[in-house]
Amino acid sequence: MTTTHDDTPTGTVGAALRGEFPIFEHTTYLNSCSQGALSHRVRRAYEEYLDGWDERGAEWEHWVERAETMRAAFARLLRATSDEIAVTTSVSQGVSAIVSALPFERGGRTRIVISEHEFPTVGQIAHAQELRGAEVVHVTPDPDGSTPVERFDAAIDERTALVCCTTVSYRTGHRHDVPAIARIARERGALVLADSYQAVGAIDVDVGSLGADFVTGGTVKYLLASAGLGFLYVRGELLQQLLPTQTGWFADEDIFQMDISDYSPHSTARRFDAGTPPVPNIYAGVAGAAIIEEVGVAAIEAHVRRLATRLIEGLDELGATVVTPRDPARRGPLVCVRSTDVSTLVASLAEDRIVTSSRDNLRVALHLYNVDEDVDRVLAALAARRHLLA
Ligand SMILES: Cc1ncc(COP(=O)(O)O)c(C=O)c1O
Repeated sequence: MTTTHDDTPTGTVGAALRGEFPIFEHTTYLNSCSQGALSHRVRRAYEEYLDGWDERGAEWEHWVERAETMRAAFARLLRATSDEIAVTTSVSQGVSAIVSALPFERGGRTRIVISEHEFPTVGQIAHAQELRGAEVVHVTPDPDGSTPVERFDAAIDERTALVCCTTVSYRTGHRHDVPAIARIARERGALVLADSYQAVGAIDVDVGSLGADFVTGGTVKYLLASAGLGFLYVRGELLQQLLPTQTGWFADEDIFQMDISDYSPHSTARRFDAGTPPVPNIYAGVAGAAIIEEVGVAAIEAHVRRLATRLIEGLDELGATVVTPRDPARRGPLVCVRSTDVSTLVASLAEDRIVTSSRDNLRVALHLYNVDEDVDRVLAALAARRHLLA
């Protein structure tokens, strides 16, 4: 059975959705950790943008409305309010805006604590703040790749301004215990950033229970859209005290006033927006997020969890070294496996039209459109390439 974009039934995952994603006609796609598969609906959204531009020229009001529709969709996915969401062009933009609001060089707290599992952009932005007087402290994981909360506990103190603990590691698939880390940080007066790019869309990310002050991500991966669009959640109670100095006219309290005489940021998280919104990407983002919302994150999470368990059990039978935790509560949609030569392994799987990726380890990512046969196919392909597994 296939479904069209108009009647995606809630809770329907796997085979019933494949018709919406043409790549599955010829490829076993297991790379949503890099880029979600293209759907008919997202393709049509781009066409709609181009058609409107062609027919009516600059559709400013409609474009601004689309950006607000996207903001509201991000808010629903995170169970936040729209006023707590900035629409960004990337995680990098959002994180840079956050740190620009922290007064390291003006007598504020100077420490940034980061996990070793942060995406490079977060680590690099943290270290860039050394130029402004900040000091970066790295929290190292155990040999099995997990980072016990006690490590954060030891690193966070009254000098700490910000703690960065990604929700799901892009390198190993480990999930941090963000709620526990956030509790410790809050007790000591530090803020917490949870980069949730490898989680949102595939597993439930409820900002209330996560407890982080900032949650960021984007649409490229499990939100099924394209590059150039992201979100930044900022906990409502913090908004008035955070003044980003990395800013732009869409962050102003009244963008249409065109006022160049002062800095008057918006009272909501829009103060973390920047310049002209990435309109084409927003069309795609609204379409991709709609698919996720219609199916429902709870159904996706349960599906992905089951597929990941099947994959890990198969890998165990092969005698492979699985880096990702076995406990479903400690992982997300990404399963990572050690390889003796991961670039060769990814390229060799691609020859059989099995798309995976590598970041130190082989990465196999599962999402709503994957099925048992995808898992079995990659397992069979890995069995035939056993010499490339460590
Ligand atoms: C965890 C994580 N954070 C951030 C990014 C990307 O950041 P940006 O949107 O700045 O390119 C990625 C992947 O591209 C990622 O996996």
